[in-house]
Amino acid sequence: MGIFDTHAHYLKRDFPEDLEEVLNGLKEKNVERIIAVGCNLEASEEEIALAQRYDIVYASAGIHPEDAGKLPSDWEERLGELLKMPKVVALGEIGLDYHYDDAPEKDVQRDVFIKQLEMAKAPDLPVIIHSRDACAETMEILREYKPRGVMHCFSYSAETAREVIKLGMYIGFTGVLTFKNAKKAVQACEEIPIDRLLLETDSPYMAPEPHRGERSDSSMIRFTAAKMAEIKGVSTEEMIEIANQNGRRLFFGE
Ligand code: NI
Repeated sequence: MGIFDTHAHYLKRDFPEDLEEVLNGLKEKNVERIIAVGCNLEASEEEIALAQRYDIVYASAGIHPEDAGKLPSDWEERLGELLKMPKVVALGEIGLDYHYDDAPEKDVQRDVFIKQLEMAKAPDLPVIIHSRDACAETMEILREYKPRGVMHCFSYSAETAREVIKLGMYIGFTGVLTFKNAKKAVQACEEIPIDRLLLETDSPYMAPEPHRGERSDSSMIRFTAAKMAEIKGVSTEEMIEIANQNGRRLFFGE
């Protein structure tokens, strides 16, 4: 079983010269499936178009909290249409991000987040949650809405990880897990049952060691997988397989 990268962004903006080349080369590097994650309407459209062209690529559509402040008045309708497109398997990434001072107002982020959690319910789509520096408020919302989904690029404590798992959700780790200062992420990963872990790159960001700082792509996930395997006491191959099965269960009901 190959690699399932459950969270990547493949936009022309970040791969201006070689998007086709990178995507065409991934199969040979044992990448079997990718979810190309949308972060606003335009990016979601771009990721969905890729999914129509590449058999290994699936897509999600959603409004990232950093993009929540400048939405057209018909955004819900447009997002609803995107969610019906072929190969769209999730709603995301959505959530709260209070990291930057120039981020959209907290109540705007919260409103867009909650509206999307409600949109995911009827089609029973899994959601991809992005949460940074907003732990308490995110958890409060998740407790109330109990979505099916994943908290991606997990950056909170082991205690929060336990609660996310208790809510029935999955947790994804990027290359951050391999960083030298990743003690908190490692401790959280130790706490999470192996059948709830997902592997992701968040490409083009978060490249794992020894590629930290470079533009990442889905093939680099093996470094994250190796670290996760070490933490969970299994082989890298087993870890890739288990994470793949977890991702298939969540996003494809397999
Ligand atoms: Ni992302």
